[in-house]
Amino acid sequence: MLKDEILRVLEDERAKPISGQVLADRFGVSRNAVWKVINQLKEEGHSIRSDGKKGYCLEESSDVLSVPGIRNYLQSPELSVEVYSEIDSTNNEAKRRLGAGESRNLLLVADKQTAGRGRIGHTFYSPEHTGIYMTLSIELPMPLYQPERITLAAAVAVVRAVQPYLSEELRLKWVNDIFYKDLKVCGILSEGITDLETGLIQHAIVGIGLNVRPADFPPELREIAGSLELERPSRNEIVGRIVNSLEELYRDLTNDDYIREYMEYSMHPEKVKEFLKING
Ligand code: BTN
Repeated sequence: MLKDEILRVLEDERAKPISGQVLADRFGVSRNAVWKVINQLKEEGHSIRSDGKKGYCLEESSDVLSVPGIRNYLQSPELSVEVYSEIDSTNNEAKRRLGAGESRNLLLVADKQTAGRGRIGHTFYSPEHTGIYMTLSIELPMPLYQPERITLAAAVAVVRAVQPYLSEELRLKWVNDIFYKDLKVCGILSEGITDLETGLIQHAIVGIGLNVRPADFPPELREIAGSLELERPSRNEIVGRIVNSLEELYRDLTNDDYIREYMEYSMHPEKVKEFLKING
């Protein structure tokens, strides 16, 4: 699709102008067709500056979640990626897909959730434009008796993706919560399809909710929830960085190095030590 292809080039050249003629030649279309696509992208909320002769420039501050935007940062080209402007819950959608027999690896990302879920029946507040609500649904044959490893690795992937941009250290609360400046900024909900005959978790559904930009939390959450208050990088880049780390970590969940990495940021290192003593 021309729109996706142009967006991918703009993402790749973020903050640099690229001429309409260059885009037109690259995709074998008229400059007018490029202009129309640029207008469509602007209507969708992308901040694109039209700079006379220099061309079009996706501004540094532009922050619309998109498939081409995320793909631009993904190491693995095979992963199917879908972005929703609104959905009930990306974990629910992943389950629906599995229920319908669709078992390929899938990354689902939403700008807003209307029924975001947390652990033990809690809801996860998921307003538009400020957070990342994502689910990685992947085949992951691993023993059923250590399911915490999936969540521990996801927490480490989030830390690796965003810690370099933060002025203070993230703190991890066993096992699925991430705090910044004493407020919860991220929750992880790992679910799975298990096979009782083989004793393996066949398919993991790893849901991550991360508050990136300042949000207007409802009164009951104001003392508890916060955001990373990051202006950059884009949410597309953060998603890409998280998924790249996750895929790397999920290649070998038996290696305990990432659990030691988790321990460095942990609020309760004794719990992590205990886990390693029993499961390491
Ligand atoms: C928690 O805080 O207990 C876990 C929160 C997990 C939230 C994420 S957002 C993406 C995915 N979809 C959901 O409905 N929940 C997870």
